[in-house]
Amino acid sequence: MTQSTAVAISVTGADKVYPNGTHALQPVDLKVQQGEFVTLLGPSGCGKSTLLKMMAGLLPLDNGSVQVWGQAPDARQPPERSMAFVFQSPTLMPWATVSQNVSLPLELAGVPKAELAPRVEDALKLVGLNQFQGHLPNALSGGMQMRVSIARAFVTNPSILLMDEPFGALDEITRHKLDAELLEIWRARKLSVVFVTHSIHEAVFLSSRVVMMAARPGRIVDEFEITEPYPRTTDFMVTSQFARYAKQLQDSLHRASAEPVGSQDL
Ligand SMILES: Nc1ncnc2c1ncn2[C@@H]1O[C@H](COP(=O)(O)OP(=O)(O)O)[C@@H](O)[C@H]1O
Ligand SMILES: [Mg+2]
Repeated sequence: MTQSTAVAISVTGADKVYPNGTHALQPVDLKVQQGEFVTLLGPSGCGKSTLLKMMAGLLPLDNGSVQVWGQAPDARQPPERSMAFVFQSPTLMPWATVSQNVSLPLELAGVPKAELAPRVEDALKLVGLNQFQGHLPNALSGGMQMRVSIARAFVTNPSILLMDEPFGALDEITRHKLDAELLEIWRARKLSVVFVTHSIHEAVFLSSRVVMMAARPGRIVDEFEITEPYPRTTDFMVTSQFARYAKQLQDSLHRASAEPVGSQDL
């Protein structure tokens, strides 16, 4: 079946030096297959956000290339091949209601007015917030605001979701809840996800594959397949298998964090 082996994102020799001279990424190669849940893990400053922004087409590369479904990330793709980005903070418009925030990407895409309300409602239902359509963002908790931001990403029905530490600012219980919801949606919609976190436990719980990065300059140093079958529930988190994965990632993260600073002059 060719479908199951399609490459969603292909990064080849991507390299980035910021204008101030920071070598954020040395040439990186990474392929994300359709339907994978890939997590980028690594110490602060190792280039996770830089790599994710390159995949989103939000940041030009110095060298190399990024392809999304075989085309440049900013190429016009049919709706079923679209991509959505979720940032660490919810980035909602504070003066607009929940449903106005969620409908914005549809309006920007020129979706007919009559289709807006039902699609916004579906997206909000997905994150359990459809009773809050008329609320302003600051009337909601941090976790609820993040859900609105996820609904805004889902409303366009993306095939690829790029998420940069989306739940990093939330308390642990809320984060676990949103992690579990995200997995449900990922499975139900057969999404391809690239997720950034610095939480080892979140990485093991969510991912089909974890890509470990190291800093100065940012690069990929290790990869781990998490073969635990889905659906995964929080029961997985108290198994010895989970602990083994977490230990492997922790050891790798320690190695990645201890990389000598002198390698920055490559
Ligand atoms: N706009 C920028 N200008 C200069 N340096 C930057 C910029 N953005 C990030 N960096 C630097 O590039 C490196 C990688 O950053 P980043 O991709 O944000 O890492 P991570 O997300 O893993 O913490 C860091 O050293 C960071 O300070
Ligand atoms: Mg970052």
